[in-house]
Amino acid sequence: MKMDKFNKTTSLRRVRQVQFLPCYQVTILTCLILIVFLFVFTLNHHSFPNTSTGRARSLLSSSSPEFNGGGQWEKLVRQSSTPRKVTGKTVLVTGAAGFVGSHCVLALKKRGDGVLGLDNFNSYYDPSLKRSRQAHLSKHGIFIVDADINDADLLKKLFEITPFTHILHLAAQAGVRYAIENPNSYIHSNIAGFVNLLEVAAKNTNPQPAIVWASSSSVYGLNTETPFSESDRTDRPASLYAATKKAGEEIAHTYNHIYGLSLTGLRFFTVYGPWGRPDMAYFFFTKAILDHGDITVFQAGDGDKEIARDFTYIDDVVHGCVGAIDTAEKSTGVPGGGQKHGPAQLRVYNLGNTSPVPVSRLVSILECLLGRSANKNTVRMPANGDVPYTHANVSLANQDFGYRPTTDLTTGLRKFVKWYVKYYSIQTKLVRY
Ligand SMILES: NC(=O)c1ccc[n+]([C@@H]2O[C@H](COP(=O)([O-])OP(=O)(O)OC[C@H]3O[C@@H](n4cnc5c(N)ncnc54)[C@H](O)[C@@H]3O)[C@@H](O)[C@H]2O)c1
Repeated sequence: MKMDKFNKTTSLRRVRQVQFLPCYQVTILTCLILIVFLFVFTLNHHSFPNTSTGRARSLLSSSSPEFNGGGQWEKLVRQSSTPRKVTGKTVLVTGAAGFVGSHCVLALKKRGDGVLGLDNFNSYYDPSLKRSRQAHLSKHGIFIVDADINDADLLKKLFEITPFTHILHLAAQAGVRYAIENPNSYIHSNIAGFVNLLEVAAKNTNPQPAIVWASSSSVYGLNTETPFSESDRTDRPASLYAATKKAGEEIAHTYNHIYGLSLTGLRFFTVYGPWGRPDMAYFFFTKAILDHGDITVFQAGDGDKEIARDFTYIDDVVHGCVGAIDTAEKSTGVPGGGQKHGPAQLRVYNLGNTSPVPVSRLVSILECLLGRSANKNTVRMPANGDVPYTHANVSLANQDFGYRPTTDLTTGLRKFVKWYVKYYSIQTKLVRY
C-alpha cells in the first residue's frame, strides 16, 4: 500500500516536473526523441536481411523495374503464361534461371505451352550467368519473376493471375559439398521452400496443379546395388543435400496422401551441357584446362570401384521432364485443402544416362576437345558428401513416358565446350574429336 502511494507521488512529481519544463527544453527533448527514432528506423532498414529469402527481397530488390505487383507486371506474367496452342499447358517453372530450368522453359515454350519462370537469382554461383539465361529466355517471350519460393503471398498472387495446370519445381539449393559451408540454405530452399510451394498448391489453387519436381540421384547415398533402381534403398544419404532431397520425397508423399496433389519426383543423374553450372566438375575442369590451372581429380580407396558418374546430357533430361509433365494426371484435392476425391498419382523416376564414365575419362575427353593437357592433382576422395559411383536404371521412365537417353559423353561435352568458349569469348581452336 505504502509502496503504491510512493509510486503515485513520484510519478505525479515527474509529471509536474515535465509540465513545468521551460519551452526550449521541451523542444530539445522532442528533437532528441525524433533523432533516436530516425536512427533506430535507419538501422532497421539497413539491417534488413540481405538474403534471398522471403517476400521482402522479392519486392525490394528485383532486378526487373516492372516487378511491383502492378498492372505492367501482371501483364508480363499473363503474356508469358498464356499458351500459344489451344491445347497447351500452363506451367510455372521454379528455378527457371538455373541450368536445367532455363532449358526446360525454352522447350515448353517452343512447343506452345504457356510458361512462367520464377527464380531468386541467388549467388550460390555467379548470378550473372543466371541473368544471361534470363536475357536469353526473354527473347523468346519468357518472363521470370524474381522471387523466392518461400514467398506464399507472391505464389498465391501468381495463381490468381494464372490457374497453372502444372508446376515444374526445379528451384533448390544444389551442390553436395556446399552443405558443409552453408547447411541452412538447403533447409531454406529444399525443405521450407518446397513445403511452402506445396501448401499453396494444396490450399490456394483451383484447380490444383500437377507437380513435377527435381529430386536427385544422390538419394541413393551409400546404396551398393547397381544400376540404381527406384525400388532400391534410399535411407542412407551421404550428404545434407541428399537428405533434403530424400526428405522432399517423403514430404511429397504426405501432400499426395492428405491433399490429393499429383506429384512426380525426378532423380536426375549428373546433368551437364551448355549453360551449365560452374560448380560442377566438367565446368570448372574446362575453365582450369583453358587457364592452365590445376585440377583435383578424386581417386577411390583401395579395392573400391573407380570414381564414375552417369553423366546425363541436358537435352535428354529435358525430354524426361516434358515426358513426366505430359503423363502427369490431375490432382484430386478439393480446393481449400484437406479433402480429396480419390487417390492421386505419386511417382518417382530415375533420369540418367545408363552408362557411368570414370572421372579420369571425363578429363581426357576435355583434354582432347580443348587440345590441351590438364595439370592433374590426384587425391583420395574426401568424405565430404560425394558418393563414388552412380548408375541409373531408367526402365521405369522408359516404360511410362518413353525416356531414352541418346547423347554420349563425348558428343555432349563437345556441345558444352563449344558453348563455353563462345559464352566467355575465349580465343581458342577447338579440336575435332
Ligand atoms: N544438375 C544436376 O546435375 C542435378 C542433379 C540432381 C538433381 N538436380 C536438381 O535439379 C534442379 C535444378 O538443378 P540445376 O542444376 O539447374 O541447379 P541450378 O542451381 O542451376 O538451378 C536452381 C535454381 O533455383 C534457384 N533457387 C534456389 N533456391 C531458390 C528459392 N528458394 N527460391 C527461388 N529460386 C531458388 C537458383 O537461383 C537457381 O537458379 C535442382 O532441384 C537440383 O537439386 C540437379
